[in-house]
Amino acid sequence: MADQLTIALSKGRIYKDTLPLLEAANILPSEDPSKSRKLIIPTNHDNVRLLIVRATDAPTYVAHGAADIGVAGKDVLMEAPTDNLNELLDLQIAKCKLMVAGPKEAKPHGHRLKIATKYIQSAKAYYAEKGQQVDLIKLYGSMEIAPLIDLADKIVDLVDTGNTLKANGLVPEEHIADISSRLIVNEHAYKTKFNQINDIVEKFKSAIE
Ligand code: ATP
Ligand code: PRP
Ligand code: MG
Repeated sequence: MADQLTIALSKGRIYKDTLPLLEAANILPSEDPSKSRKLIIPTNHDNVRLLIVRATDAPTYVAHGAADIGVAGKDVLMEAPTDNLNELLDLQIAKCKLMVAGPKEAKPHGHRLKIATKYIQSAKAYYAEKGQQVDLIKLYGSMEIAPLIDLADKIVDLVDTGNTLKANGLVPEEHIADISSRLIVNEHAYKTKFNQINDIVEKFKSAIE
């Protein structure tokens, strides 16, 4: 009998964009997480289930083996410890860019640059590489507000269409990284459930191409 396989996904764009890949691997969820309150979703296979988790939590479930595989944005992976997990595939979904953005007319300031972001590790690495000392302010969302009310001079955030920046009078300034979602796997599960996981990887691969 095949082993139990648990897949961690977040709802919203990652679920929506992963669904066609799951279908290509003949994994069909029994419910739509955007309509159901259920967080463990069975599939057409008795031994395969989906965990609906917060986007930032997917690597944690996989690293601890609570999920065997999962999907996480590269932005999230760059912030999380990657012990016990491997990145297997670039799924080419949920594509955007991690960028520095700021007000159209930057105000002069007599202090170290203040950067508000959810992405502390990435911002720290980016400014360290540039040799620029900055003060980082951790936020969990709605970063675009920070420069408008002088909490920070600039933000480090995700940009896709640029509409959110524009709507808040901000402009993209510096490109830090291209972001897309990745298929991640627990290292131990990849050994013990290799055939099962590899079959999914191969089917995802053909569906991406
Ligand atoms: P939460 O709402 O739980 O705080 P979140 O905002 O990170 O989490 P999503 O907005 O679904 O959740 O984002 C999931 C992933 O999709 C992100 O980690 C990122 O990789 C990618 N992403 C985020 N915003 C965009 C966007 N505007 N366009 C394309 N991809 C995006
Ligand atoms: C994301 C991200 C930016 C926005 C960028 O927010 O945090 O704010 O998308 O996309 P754009 O350049 O196309 O406007 P999201 O839509 O996920 O909302 P959230 O604040 O609920 O995470
Ligand atoms: Mg979001």
